[in-house]
Amino acid sequence: MMLVYLVTFITFVGSQTASGYPSGAPASSCNSMMPRHKLNGSSTVFISGQTSTRYSVVTMASNYSVGDVVRVWVEDNQTTGYKGILLQARTPNGHSARGTWRSPPANTKLIACDEGNDTVTHSNTMLKTHNDVYEWVPGKSYGKIQFVATIAASRSVFWVQLKSSTINGASHLLYSNCNLILTMFAFLITAALRY
Ligand SMILES: *[C@@H]1O[C@H](CO)[C@@H](O)[C@H](O)[C@H]1NC(C)=O
Ligand SMILES: *[C@@H]1O[C@H](CO)[C@@H](O)[C@H](O)[C@H]1NC(C)=O
Ligand SMILES: *[C@@H]1O[C@H](CO)[C@@H](O)[C@H](O)[C@H]1NC(C)=O
Ligand SMILES: *[C@@H]1O[C@H](CO)[C@@H](O)[C@H](O)[C@H]1NC(C)=O
Repeated sequence: MMLVYLVTFITFVGSQTASGYPSGAPASSCNSMMPRHKLNGSSTVFISGQTSTRYSVVTMASNYSVGDVVRVWVEDNQTTGYKGILLQARTPNGHSARGTWRSPPANTKLIACDEGNDTVTHSNTMLKTHNDVYEWVPGKSYGKIQFVATIAASRSVFWVQLKSSTINGASHLLYSNCNLILTMFAFLITAALRY
């Protein structure tokens, strides 16, 4: 088995200002999903990579169609909740936030990274739990989608880009409809040429 954890200890040195983001991630975090808060002095920050035995990003859906509501939440093994979140729907290995979210639960809010309301983040440091369910409403089909979240247990302990299972979009259906239309078109042309 490969090394499951990618654990990095990073020391932020020498910053004079303790400018955290208790009211949500800034737009500069959109792509990397790295918290951008600076820590004062030389605090040691624990960052885990893209797996966590503590938190997982969960959806029960296996597929979606345009206009569906896909529910996503964060399971937490230690049941102590989490304080910070940055959540997006992305295509596998993609870097853009896709679709839109609606009705953010208490203590969270929607921000725009690429399109409108395409990202969920915390609005304060109150605890969030698995009862906080996020609703993704795709306005079109993006093909395969994964929900990707950075989860902060505290200001200095966070996991970056935790990924849910992959769900399938309606693109296969569109593709087969297209094929059907092309086949019929070819048939009509062939029929017309006979005369
Ligand atoms: C540094 O940060 C800690 C924890 O966030 C805080 O308690 C302390 O007051 C800060 N010190 C300065 C000089 O800002
Ligand atoms: C919680 O821990 C158990 C056992 O350690 C593990 O099998 C499970 O996958 C963990 N759940 C999450 C959400 O990480
Ligand atoms: C699509 O997802 C729904 C519920 O999420 C499920 O009931 C259905 O079986 C899925 N369809 C396919 C083809 O996977
Ligand atoms: C974004 O969501 C907020 C509610 O959180 C809503 O008031 C606003 O109209 C939405 N904006 C767009 C562009 O959908």
